[in-house]
Amino acid sequence: MKTWFITGTSRGFGRELTERLLARGDRVAATLRAPERLAGLQAEHGERLWVRGLDVTDTARLRAVVDAAFADLGRIDVVVSNAGSGVFGAAEELTDADVDDLIATNLTGSIQLARAVVPHLRAQGGGRIVQVSSMGGHIGFPGFSLYHATKWGVEGFFEGFFEAFAREVEPFGVRTTLVEPGMIRTSFYAAVGRAEVHPAYADDPGIARGDIPLEDMPGDQAKVVAAMIDVAEAADPPRRLLLGSDAYALVHAAMVERLAAVEAQKDVAYSTDVG
Ligand SMILES: NC(=O)c1ccc[n+]([C@@H]2O[C@H](COP(=O)([O-])OP(=O)(O)OC[C@H]3O[C@@H](n4cnc5c(N)ncnc54)[C@H](OP(=O)(O)O)[C@@H]3O)[C@@H](O)[C@H]2O)c1
Repeated sequence: MKTWFITGTSRGFGRELTERLLARGDRVAATLRAPERLAGLQAEHGERLWVRGLDVTDTARLRAVVDAAFADLGRIDVVVSNAGSGVFGAAEELTDADVDDLIATNLTGSIQLARAVVPHLRAQGGGRIVQVSSMGGHIGFPGFSLYHATKWGVEGFFEGFFEAFAREVEPFGVRTTLVEPGMIRTSFYAAVGRAEVHPAYADDPGIARGDIPLEDMPGDQAKVVAAMIDVAEAADPPRRLLLGSDAYALVHAAMVERLAAVEAQKDVAYSTDVG
């Protein structure tokens, strides 16, 4: 029996993961903004489900909940940093609050969770962190720039291009994986914010507005969650894991293009060295 700590367990990936783990006999510390939403699961699973209210933008509360989970449950094998949201709209259309709130949730919340769990994972001799990133942490679409900023930020914190936080904690037996799904059929697109359209952008069909037809979303929620569990339990987990045919194709194409652009700059890059 493994013990997991998960953020954002009310719905989507977090809920599916919680239900699946409980069904197979694992223990879950489930955190969510409205803990009453897990009352039914709590009644069904009793002590194997530890629940606390947590808005990941509240760093003091986040630390207190993490400390309480380790104190109450002892060892925690896998931490899944899943809570996240998005806002569609051109940068100019977003409100200041949109910017602050999304960075606080997706980026600061993920960084602070990683920082809060590391002392405990180190003390227990290791563990796993699965950070839910996105293919949007490698590529970008007009109309979703703020979301990309948060997921590129998460990618930068964990890995940069080669390694960052991930490498810092590996000597302590802590292994991390950035899970990078494409477009997956969860409650995400119904829940994301949509900025008020500014007339200057109203006729630009290139600005993503979040109205994505279901057939353009290839990803299956249950299969993504199964892959998250597999990677968390892999003997030698990859630092990054793309999930979804769209994620694979778009990130692959973006990297090929980026590499060609880097190669084209070789002469000018070398030309600015001293001497
Ligand atoms: N679905 C996709 O296509 C896709 C693709 C790539 C990456 N992702 C990422 O996957 C993760 C989960 O998304 P999902 O698809 O499962 O979306 P979802 O169905 O909308 O679920 C999002 C979860 O995050 C929670 N949450 C949002 N803000 C929070 C906060 N401040 N504090 C605590 N919990 C908060 C929500 O709780 P409430 O019920 O309280 O709002 C909900 O439980 C996110 O990080 C998202 O960026 C999703």
